[in-house]
Amino acid sequence: MNEVNWPFTGRGTLRINRAEGVYLYSDSGQAILDAAGGAIVANIGHGRERVVARVAAATRDYTYVVPPWVTPSRAALVDALEAHWLPPELTRIHVTSGGSEAVESGVKLALQYHAALGAGERCLIIAREPSYHGTTLATAALSGHPARKRGLEGALQRYPVTAAPYPLRCPLGRDHPDMGAYYADALRTTLETAGPENVAALLAEPITGSSGGAIVPPDDYWPRVRAICDDYGILLILDEVMTGFGRTGRNFGYQHWDITPDILVAGKGLAGGYAPLGGVFATDAVASTIEDAGLNVMFHTFGAHPAACAAAAEVLTILQEENLVERARIMGDELQQRLLDAFRDHPHVADVRGRGLLQAIEIVRDRDSLEPYEESANITSRVVGAGLKKGVFFYGGGTGSVRDIVCMGPPFIIESAHIDTMVGVLREAVDQVCQ
Ligand SMILES: Cc1ncc(COP(=O)(O)O)c(C=O)c1O
Repeated sequence: MNEVNWPFTGRGTLRINRAEGVYLYSDSGQAILDAAGGAIVANIGHGRERVVARVAAATRDYTYVVPPWVTPSRAALVDALEAHWLPPELTRIHVTSGGSEAVESGVKLALQYHAALGAGERCLIIAREPSYHGTTLATAALSGHPARKRGLEGALQRYPVTAAPYPLRCPLGRDHPDMGAYYADALRTTLETAGPENVAALLAEPITGSSGGAIVPPDDYWPRVRAICDDYGILLILDEVMTGFGRTGRNFGYQHWDITPDILVAGKGLAGGYAPLGGVFATDAVASTIEDAGLNVMFHTFGAHPAACAAAAEVLTILQEENLVERARIMGDELQQRLLDAFRDHPHVADVRGRGLLQAIEIVRDRDSLEPYEESANITSRVVGAGLKKGVFFYGGGTGSVRDIVCMGPPFIIESAHIDTMVGVLREAVDQVCQ
């Protein structure tokens, strides 16, 4: 008999017995600074008793209730979202059990919206490259992430793809002043080629997460894109699974610009890792159109799980009471400055980028030509491995074709001393791997 294997494939994973604040503790007693917040999830840090108590109470008092019914925890979450988080345009809330499910629900809403208007032929979604939207067949198909699609390609539906802004490698030249217009025009061309009458929505991350490595678009990009969506009658679905709930120093990443999505998707930070939870928020126009046509918006059995909603309600309260979104902005600026100081002249680091506490570096073989290392050199996983040996957990990014990205997404409670450790260890790890 074979031994049971954990995880499903691969071996040799770490065992973590305890986590508190910004640290994970392995069974060998090593304290690991969680510079990745897990998978860029643990926004308020680990082990907050208040959240634990609220989850326990919800589990005890009303263990499971079908998703459409109200529980005190669901009511508290809706109240918190309405009072402090959602913009006035987004009045409809659908809660799922994770990010992929939330993105897929958002895409289904866009399709049903057009179907309700009698335009069921609008069934294409424009995707961007690089991007990541999830691991179900639909969200994988919509992800500009070749590495995570390997072995599935034949089964994945094909969608029109447009380039996401990549200032470092913009074909016009690095940080070219016209790149906002360039990437918006690329979207228009993709739309025209697909036939706008066939397109339901654009799906995009406002600040590209780990797939591209914290890529911030030029300031005129999103207003241009919003205008194009309106011109062609397509919905804008923003995927803020990684950037939502304060990560970039604003409640939502799109709020760095003067736009509003039709459908907003969140996950990770919504419950900060205390429970699996995703959220889909839509305008009344989207929801009431679907509703009036009598279409069914189906829920998952564990959608809006009462204990998960309790966790989220408390996490959002803590973010609010402790002013942690502002802290993410301030500490994010400090982290970026320290990264720039450490890597500005590094021969193998082409870029330091990000917003708030979502930051990344891009490693290259040649800083002038931007030539990358071969994929087989596995630079990212070696840097992450070297960091871990030195007691800091970084988050590997990239898509295979975009590569050698190391991301940082620590809890918002991080202190300056932790930033010193993170940056010092990252520098040592990069030097060790890129000798
Ligand atoms: C931007 C983005 N969208 C969607 C997802 C998928 O979320 P989940 O892994 O919770 O299904 C992720 C996960 O990393 C993400 O970063």
